[in-house]
Amino acid sequence: MCGIVGVVSAKGKDIVGDLLTGLKRLEYRGYDSAGIAVITNSGAIDTRKAKGKISCLEEKLKAEPAKSNIGIAHTRWATHGEPNEINAHPQFSELVAVVHNGIIENYAALKAELADRYVFKSQTDTEVITAVITVNLKEGMSPKAAVSSALKRLKGAFAIEVLFADHPDFLICARKGAPLAIGHGKGEMYVGSDSLALCPFTNKITYLEDGDWAIITKDKAEIFTADDKPVTRKITTSTTDKNSVNKGFFDHYMQKEIFEQPKVITDTFANFKKAVKGLPSDLKSVSRISIIACGTSYHAGLIAKYWLEDLARVPTDVDFASEFRYRSPVIADDTLAILISQSGETADTLAALRYFKEQKVKTLAIVNVTESTIAREADFMINTLAGPEIAVASTKAFTSQLILLAALTLKMARERDAISAQKAEEIEQKIADLPKVMQDFLSTSGYIKEIAKDKVLGAQSALFIGRGTSYPIALEGALKLKEISYIHAEGYAAGEMKHGPIALVDNGLPIIVIAPFDKYFEKTLSNMQETMARGGEVIFISSAKGVETKVVKDFAKAVITMPEIDDFLSPLLYALPLQLLAYNTSLLRGFDMDQPRNLAKSVTVE
Ligand code: F6R
Repeated sequence: MCGIVGVVSAKGKDIVGDLLTGLKRLEYRGYDSAGIAVITNSGAIDTRKAKGKISCLEEKLKAEPAKSNIGIAHTRWATHGEPNEINAHPQFSELVAVVHNGIIENYAALKAELADRYVFKSQTDTEVITAVITVNLKEGMSPKAAVSSALKRLKGAFAIEVLFADHPDFLICARKGAPLAIGHGKGEMYVGSDSLALCPFTNKITYLEDGDWAIITKDKAEIFTADDKPVTRKITTSTTDKNSVNKGFFDHYMQKEIFEQPKVITDTFANFKKAVKGLPSDLKSVSRISIIACGTSYHAGLIAKYWLEDLARVPTDVDFASEFRYRSPVIADDTLAILISQSGETADTLAALRYFKEQKVKTLAIVNVTESTIAREADFMINTLAGPEIAVASTKAFTSQLILLAALTLKMARERDAISAQKAEEIEQKIADLPKVMQDFLSTSGYIKEIAKDKVLGAQSALFIGRGTSYPIALEGALKLKEISYIHAEGYAAGEMKHGPIALVDNGLPIIVIAPFDKYFEKTLSNMQETMARGGEVIFISSAKGVETKVVKDFAKAVITMPEIDDFLSPLLYALPLQLLAYNTSLLRGFDMDQPRNLAKSVTVE
């Protein structure tokens, strides 16, 4: 989703290169246009904007260079108004330029109110921020008063930066509901949507609290609360490593991140043991678990439901955050709420977290970005050690979430005497062995590209089916395929096929059957046969015992043979071939799977 960067430096320095460097670090969030604004020597706002990639903006800057010691920059993921140059940020007047991440919900009312005092040029909600501040300045307010008064009029979620034509020595930034970080350099200060944007410049970071705003000069940040009281926020040393964001020997971030999974699983499992203090001490008295998440993180939550109910015998609900926050959930006493989020900034998941906190429910966040808002606001936090996940489609964050949820299940099962210590140790040993099993599979997985080419590439649609924990894996496989290859795909519980979706099956429809050789195997096989009888072309994923079954040997159009694995851990392993199938299909179709169209990595608006 939108990303913002700002730099304030000493007179005579040129920060345009830094703005572009920061923007490139935010590309992973997803965007469809980009822009910068600086202040010229003669005290004018100077902007360059371009639809498309940052490279298009660079072309514009090459043709018509800009230079300044102060500037703001933006990558826009369109919400109000199509992606074009006029709607791209900064939104500016002769007095100010504004970049914004979020949505101003009362923009229509503000626009109507200001229509006779400000000429609106764009379709964006953001332009009302520019308008309110411009009008305030024209009425004689100082920049500080103009912004402070504007902030009180805005409803919705935002992180903003404001540049003033008449004041080339400071910018003002603010956040409410969307993240914003300030970077402290030497004689230079930075603002960015996250520490990844700032890590090329500094690791000394201040995270603004919700409602904070700040005046940034080249030497310092003067921070104020929502009611304009000066406040000190601590400077932390970010662990984000600027070298961690590269593709290494791989062609794409997604490919690299798929192959990193054995390592991040190892690291995350080891970290769980250290992070146990990040858990509530009274897990035994938890009567119910409520898991809230979105997208892939939601799929991790669905798998955890099977685990927690089966092994730890704790009733568990799983909800999409966007649904949970607007219904009236009945929350049992002694509920533990688990919020799962890679980014830790997903607007709906954050809203659910805040709802639980209002209800005095204990909250545990499972996040990858430890400095994120969800990580900071939850009562307890355990982090996955996936490292920066740059590809928009989540892979290594998903399996890291799963390993943490598996470890949590075992801990709860033990504490509640739901399984013996011996059984728990056996599973822990299998978890310890899992990275090697994953590695062995990945290193011989090249043939999946051929399956993608022969069986999926030309398809209009695909179905993924499975039972038990393979059902959420089917959902995840379908999500991966649709988001990066743009082929319509659906995941179904195999037993549900007869209740409707089987009507879709006709000649040549690829059916990806996820069938570990477990207690569901025979039943899944029957569902597979029902689809084959109607022309479905099966890609069968199972261990050797499964793929050697006669009907599979005789009729499946392709097989992916998985190593043997304990039933409990199968979702972690079976996620891999589905990620590779989607990756290779996208590659063969010639798409940029790292930045798929219309998608954002960090979904900071609801
Ligand atoms: C899909 C994907 C998304 C995210 C979802 C939640 O590949 O990445 O579905 O899982 O947007 O994001 P987080 O986990 O950051 O809350």
